[in-house]
Amino acid sequence: MVTDGPRLLSNVIRSQDALHAPYGGVVPELAARAHLQTLVPVIERALEDAGTRWEQIDAVGVTRGPGLIGCLLVGVNLAQAIAYARSLPVIGVSHLAAHVYAGLLEDEQLRPPVLGLVVSGGHSDLIRWQPDGEIAVIGRTRDDAAGEAFDKGARILGLPFPGGPAIDKLAASGDPRAVAFPRPRAPGLDFSFSGVKTALLYEVRKRKTLSEQERADLAASYQEAIVDALLQRVEAAQAIDRAPTIVLGGGVARNRRLREAAQARLGHLARLIIPAPELCTDNAAMIGVAALIEWDRRGPDPAPFDADPSLGFS
Ligand code: KG4
Ligand code: ZN
Repeated sequence: MVTDGPRLLSNVIRSQDALHAPYGGVVPELAARAHLQTLVPVIERALEDAGTRWEQIDAVGVTRGPGLIGCLLVGVNLAQAIAYARSLPVIGVSHLAAHVYAGLLEDEQLRPPVLGLVVSGGHSDLIRWQPDGEIAVIGRTRDDAAGEAFDKGARILGLPFPGGPAIDKLAASGDPRAVAFPRPRAPGLDFSFSGVKTALLYEVRKRKTLSEQERADLAASYQEAIVDALLQRVEAAQAIDRAPTIVLGGGVARNRRLREAAQARLGHLARLIIPAPELCTDNAAMIGVAALIEWDRRGPDPAPFDADPSLGFS
């Protein structure tokens, strides 16, 4: 729940990681059903944590996309039902744009122009949040997203789902220089992670068995290659843009090595904003902030509106 500022009043996150872990990845139908079971109790809890009554709510914000269609439909449907029942305006927003706007919960003065890196399970996008409010994508992945590279790499290393946090944890006891993984090379400001993922697979096959230290060294070296590739592109974009502010967002922005290396490599180039870890992975607080921004820009959406699994930044 958010209010003007934007200020965070409550943020309730119900993770589905344990539900999907036995399958080694997200099972779309289970995810949609879990949304159905979870949403109402989560909303009640958010109201309670914020000390708010329904009568004090002015508008409902919801993610229209991108994401899994089943999950999106549950949310879009419920948001419109609440809006209808309580005669409230409803605003459908992009969850990718929301990953950038999450920066406002760290600094409410944050305004474009902003150079942003959104790194999640489905996206690795370098963006320019322009003074006119539009978000332009200036670099994208040619193959896997950064989060996907973490998740697939973890599977190759025999680590549990979700892979990103597992690699992050194991890498802490490994040597990032143990294996010199190739740095992904894609044209311009684009990303590519399939090469480094294949290189990891070959390294694991070459060894036949892995000691715990070898596994940690591989995790640290693999993480280092991904982090280096991401930051190299942000530096290249910043050499062109010279933006006053750089924002990192999306689930991968939780990564401790990325956060630390970003401070060292970008901190002197601009004001660097990396939201608190719980505001980087998907969360409703950033959707509330996005709804406030879109409310100011274009007002509420005429209901009924649809979910869009392949929505971009607007
Ligand atoms: O933004 P997000 O919560 O959901 C999507 O929109 O996809 O991002 C999820 C992704 C997953 O691929 C997960 O492995 C990755 O973020 N992730 C991490 C870390 N925590 C989550 N990757 C690297 N290090 C982490 N600590
Ligand atoms: Zn996300």
